[in-house]
Amino acid sequence: MNAKNKKALVIYYSLEGNTEIIAKKIAETIKADILFLKPKKEMKSKGFMKFVWGGRQVMLKKEPELLPFEKNPEDYDILIIGTPVWMATFTPPLRSFFKSVNLNGKKVLLFCTHDGGPGKTIENMSKMLGDDANILSTMEFNRVAREKEINLKKCEEWINSIKF
Ligand SMILES: Cc1cc2nc3c(=O)[nH]c(=O)nc-3n(C[C@H](O)[C@H](O)[C@H](O)COP(=O)(O)O)c2cc1C
Repeated sequence: MNAKNKKALVIYYSLEGNTEIIAKKIAETIKADILFLKPKKEMKSKGFMKFVWGGRQVMLKKEPELLPFEKNPEDYDILIIGTPVWMATFTPPLRSFFKSVNLNGKKVLLFCTHDGGPGKTIENMSKMLGDDANILSTMEFNRVAREKEINLKKCEEWINSIKF
């Protein structure tokens, strides 16, 4: 793997920390910068209600307003984009992100974290990027916090296997 001469940015959303664990591991492994997609208003619901609230956001194809980006994705050669799986697809902050940037010409990696199945998350994110997207590789991670060591190892092996 040789991302060292190229600029790489890990871009992610995480509600409960699972996706963040993977995002940070990738950034640490390839010395990438990191950009957390922070909605202006974050979900307050806990327990079961978070599924109702989050599920509704997905169904309505919401594009929540995000806080200004601390890094400009357009300054980077390689973008590694991650999301939790909600309702078998990507989360609303990712929709806002895809709508707000032009990623033509970028090399892209996609990943998601879930508790059972990725559903159509990767497929749907790929569609948002369009036909010209240069997607180098994709990966999914199951039960990240509960099976942390397994997932960290999987993450490291994945990212080290990619020829940037
Ligand atoms: C609103 C909502 C919907 C979810 N839908 C799914 C799902 O369809 N499939 C699945 O395997 N996990 C689902 N999950 C579980 C999350 O994908 C999983 O816990 C993920 O790793 C959370 O990432 P985070 O900790 O970065 O927020 C859902 C969680 C929430 C809050």
